[in-house]
Amino acid sequence: RLAHIQDRLEIVHGDLLDQDSLIELLREWHPQEVYNLAAQSFVPTSFSQPVLTGEVTALGVTRLLDAIRMVDPAIRFYQASSSEMFGKVVEVPQTESTPFYPRSPYGVAKLYGHWITINYRESYDLHASSGMLFNHESPRRGLEFVTRKISHSVARIKLGLDRELRLGNLEAQRDWGFAGDYVKAMWLMLQQDAPDDYVVATGETHSVREFCEIAFDHVGLDWQDHVVVDERFFRPAEVDLLIGDPKKALSQLGWKAETSFDQLVRMMVDGDITELEGDAIVNQPESP
Ligand code: GDD
Repeated sequence: RLAHIQDRLEIVHGDLLDQDSLIELLREWHPQEVYNLAAQSFVPTSFSQPVLTGEVTALGVTRLLDAIRMVDPAIRFYQASSSEMFGKVVEVPQTESTPFYPRSPYGVAKLYGHWITINYRESYDLHASSGMLFNHESPRRGLEFVTRKISHSVARIKLGLDRELRLGNLEAQRDWGFAGDYVKAMWLMLQQDAPDDYVVATGETHSVREFCEIAFDHVGLDWQDHVVVDERFFRPAEVDLLIGDPKKALSQLGWKAETSFDQLVRMMVDGDITELEGDAIVNQPESP
């Protein structure tokens, strides 16, 4: 996923399970800002591997914060908190002061990461901020997540490579935004004089079913001819509805989502069609 900018990056290795590797990285590279986007981030896997999820997604944050405290407490830190912490929502829409009710080992682990970030800020005066990001998607999203699973499948069906798309809960509702917009909010948080916590969201919610409707419609197909509901993709405990209130991000960071839901869905389907067509050209047998 970094291929398009790889020539402008220097990639170095560290592991959230290995604190010494983090200390070594900070000592060697002297970063001014650290963005912790690393996690076991797929919710269904957190049910099958809850302990590993806790080690990486929860304790990994402590290892990194503690390494910063030891090596250079002036480093500014961003923690990728998640709307999954709101889980079985107790208030609609969700704000920075909405009580948490996570519904998966992933959500529970993210909640630990969120609170340890606040704790290190308050205990050691670190410039540590937490972004409670609602779902953020792009054509580079992993195929296991529902948006990309849909866009990729729509492209395959359109190009005659597939016929059906098997999904779980079509009624789940998410506040989906474009990842490219959300990364700007992360950066803005670390440019502020004081660290803080922010909800980053569009303020709109849509169902998986709506995502399918727009995606199939974009290529002239009817989703109902292709989508099959499959019990295998349901979760032991579901988050039915997420919708964030991004007012604080607007008033304090001057940030708002620029890309609409419709634009996002179409961008993802177009991205997959372009990619699959490119593959088809590459794989064409050479003419004699
Ligand atoms: N993955 C997947 N596959 N989800 C499905 C499917 C399917 O076949 N069918 C329905 N869904 C529903 C899920 O039940 C869920 O309610 C919703 O689609 C979204 O699922 P995901 O795309 O897997 O994302 P998520 O909401 O669980 O979590 C994502 O967003 C969080 C908030 O930003 C992940 O990126 C998390 O790491 C992130 O924290």
